[in-house]
Formats: sequence, C-alpha cells, structure tokens
Amino acid sequence: MDSASVSIRVRGLRQTFGAQAVLDGVDLDVPAGTTLALLGPSGCGKSTLLKLLAGLLKPDAGRVMFGDETVADAATCVPPESRGLGMVFQDYALWPHMTVAGNVSFPLEMRGVGRRERGERVAAALARVGLDGMGARRPSALSGGQQQRIALARAIVAEPRILLFDEPLSNLDSQLRASLCDEIGGLLAQLGTTAVYVTHERKEAEALAHTIVTLAHGRVESVLHR
Ligand SMILES: Nc1ncnc2c1ncn2[C@@H]1O[C@H](COP(=O)(O)OP(=O)(O)O)[C@@H](O)[C@H]1O
Ligand SMILES: [Mg+2]
Repeated sequence: MDSASVSIRVRGLRQTFGAQAVLDGVDLDVPAGTTLALLGPSGCGKSTLLKLLAGLLKPDAGRVMFGDETVADAATCVPPESRGLGMVFQDYALWPHMTVAGNVSFPLEMRGVGRRERGERVAAALARVGLDGMGARRPSALSGGQQQRIALARAIVAEPRILLFDEPLSNLDSQLRASLCDEIGGLLAQLGTTAVYVTHERKEAEALAHTIVTLAHGRVESVLHR
C-alpha cells in the first residue's frame, strides 16, 4: 500500500437491504488527486455508497477499483484497514478515554510505526489542522469544531491514498461550517489525496469538489464537472 493518491472507479454497484435496492447500479469515476462531492437528500444512499468504498459493507453486485486494484467485486472484499483510507464522520467518532494525541496516533500504532516517529507525525498532523500543542488534552475539553479537526488529523496522519468524508460539518453551526469547509478544501488541495465528500449541502460541494454527483433513487442522477 503506497501513500500516493489513486483513482477510484465504481461500476454497476448494487446494495439491497431486504427488498429495498438502496443502490441500483451506480457508476462513478474519481480521477487521482481530485475531490468528488456526493449530493442527495437524506436516505438516498450516500452513506451506504461511502461504506462500500470503505469496505464496511460488501456490495451485492458491481465492482470498486482503487487504481488498478479491485477492492470489491463478487469474489473480493478487501478489509477497510487494507484499503489505505482515512475517514471523517459527522459525529467525529473520537475515543473519549484517549488524549487528542492518542486519537491521532492510533492509525500509526495499527501500522506498527515506532513511538518516536509517531510523535513527530502526530505533531505534524495536529499542526496542519491548527491544533498545535493540544495533544495532551481530552477531546471533550475541545469545541465541536476542534473535535472535528482531531478527526481530520487522525484521517490524514497515516498518509492515506483516499479520504472519505460523511457529512463532516453537519453538527457544526453555519459560520464554523463555512470556515472549516474552506480549510478542508485547502488541505485536500495541498495533500493531493483523492477524496469523496458526502454532503446534503450544495454550497459545501461547490466549495470543495472538482466533480459533483447527485444521487437519486439509487442511481446517479447527474454529474457536474467544474
Ligand atoms: N444496515 C442497514 N440495514 C437496513 N437498511 C439500511 C441500512 N443502512 C441503510 N439502510 C437504508 O438505506 C437507505 C439509505 O441510507 P443511507 O445510505 O444512510 O442514506 P443517506 O446517507 O443518503 O442519508 C435508507 O432507507 C436507510 O434506511
Ligand atoms: Mg448518511
């Protein structure tokens, strides 16, 4: 697994829950180093599609490729930890019993990175998201916006080849949302990591994305290149 960004290619992706076809033949292309925003109303299958990219769900049909590698199809389902991903969720998903630095360090520990290098990389990731010097604190001692920055630092610390965002700003007030949205856009441009950014806010999609895809009724309704 290398840290250079890769393209994402999705073909004929289907996911059913009971009798409901939540995704009914979805095709997507995300060129390496670009950001695709996935728009659509609540319940249209955005999080489901993101989980399929992450390997948290196995598709009923179709294929997901990262570069030349098939990560999911009828025969294959590469586990999330082997996909080279960073993820950011709406609810931050931080571990409350760990310090800020402990949260950010976790993906490096999973990869067996030594203590000294972990310390350096955690400090660099925290600095990138504007949290220098906050490592020893508990997440609960920080504001919502700062907590989402911790999650962002944790997502980028291991230099993933793909970043996945699931409505990361929806729990924040509108002013903070706009500024953090700009920062995430700046960070993605700097890092050059391929990203899929789920939102139901068109404004966020327009601020961040090279391509805006709208989902409806389990299919891609429109693709806008910008
Ligand atoms: N694990 C699951 N089991 C059953 N139904 C699910 C499951 N996950 C999602 N769904 C259903 O799939 C649809 C799409 O959900 P989701 O992908 O979360 O939508 P979105 O993120 O766009 O709001 C919804 O109708 C939801 O209830
Ligand atoms: Mg969702």
